[in-house]
Amino acid sequence: MSRRSGNLEVVPLEAHHIPRAATLVAEGAREQRHAAPQLPFTLDDSTVAAELLEPLAGNGLGVVVLDDGALVGLLAGVAVPLWGSPGVYVAEWGNAARGPEVVLAAYAAASQLWVAAGCAAHVVTLWAHAAANEAAWHQLGFGRVVVDAVRGLDEIEGGRGQVRRATVADVAEIVSLEEALWRHLAAPPVSRVHPPPAGPAGVAERLADPRRPAWIVEDGGRAIGYVSLTSGEHETTALAADDTAVCDGAFVVPEVRRRGAGRCLVSAAMGWAAAEGFARLAIDYESANLEAATFWPGAGFRAVLHSVARTVILPKAP
Ligand SMILES: CC(C)(COP(=O)(O)OP(=O)(O)OC[C@H]1O[C@@H](n2cnc3c(N)ncnc32)[C@H](O)[C@@H]1OP(=O)(O)O)[C@@H](O)C(=O)NCCC(=O)NCCS
Repeated sequence: MSRRSGNLEVVPLEAHHIPRAATLVAEGAREQRHAAPQLPFTLDDSTVAAELLEPLAGNGLGVVVLDDGALVGLLAGVAVPLWGSPGVYVAEWGNAARGPEVVLAAYAAASQLWVAAGCAAHVVTLWAHAAANEAAWHQLGFGRVVVDAVRGLDEIEGGRGQVRRATVADVAEIVSLEEALWRHLAAPPVSRVHPPPAGPAGVAERLADPRRPAWIVEDGGRAIGYVSLTSGEHETTALAADDTAVCDGAFVVPEVRRRGAGRCLVSAAMGWAAAEGFARLAIDYESANLEAATFWPGAGFRAVLHSVARTVILPKAP
């Protein structure tokens, strides 16, 4: 396969392209840090992307874009089931583009490979700062689905409430709040199915693990919200670092929202993270989760990654 679009030539990703492609990925990481200085340096090192890309060369789902021989774009996916159908996922270390024209040319070619492989769901994780490139993805029919954001551990203002660290005696409270969060995410407008909540045994195990703490906010002795943190489990390479703490759950009951309970919980969690030697707190949320999409940026989190998605209709033989 070799496809021309203006001066651009799109060819399958091969092993010899990887060092130049990984350099482009590292450039994107450095540019992203200007917009969000808390981004770890993980992908600045081009050998990280190079190592991840190696198994993808020759898998039939990746392309590079050449401009007069110079490598100006990369789009390298892996086949994975997405939302119940065969799909292709492209991580932030699997794509890079010097401009919107490169995005259009890369997807025009790669989508042929993906559709021929029977993959209908296409998801790509982009650097959040590259608005012009993201607009090209929107032109191609992709919509933003998930935001990854990060914050340093300095003071957060506007919190109000009685917050305490959850203990093994709080299993029932956390189970009930985790279930409420799961229902919120499963219901419209988010409508995304997440793994089911851990349940009593999973929560008891978590609360006994000092590296996976949770906090509860109370009102008149009743638990009205929680936040939980973890570390060392990063879904995204860009945010993976030993000193990144990850918020893996946050919920405040609807009747007391917007009174500062959420910020109070996050403040307590950040205080713990700072004392434990973490440098930043990361979070991901669905862009259709309107409460989260307002709350996290308002609490000082800066977007670093935008994941965009599209489901195509696979052609049937006439
Ligand atoms: C996100 C959540 C935990 C925030 O809790 P909270 O107690 O409402 O948070 P706070 O009161 O500290 O929020 C402060 C700010 O968040 C923003 N905000 C929160 N809810 C909002 C809403 N429904 N509409 C608009 N802005 C909202 C506002 O900027 C608000 O500040 P303001 O009231 O001064 O304008 C809560 O909305 C929630 O449980 N949502 C459902 C579950 C969820 O989405 N969890 C996050 C998963 S990633």
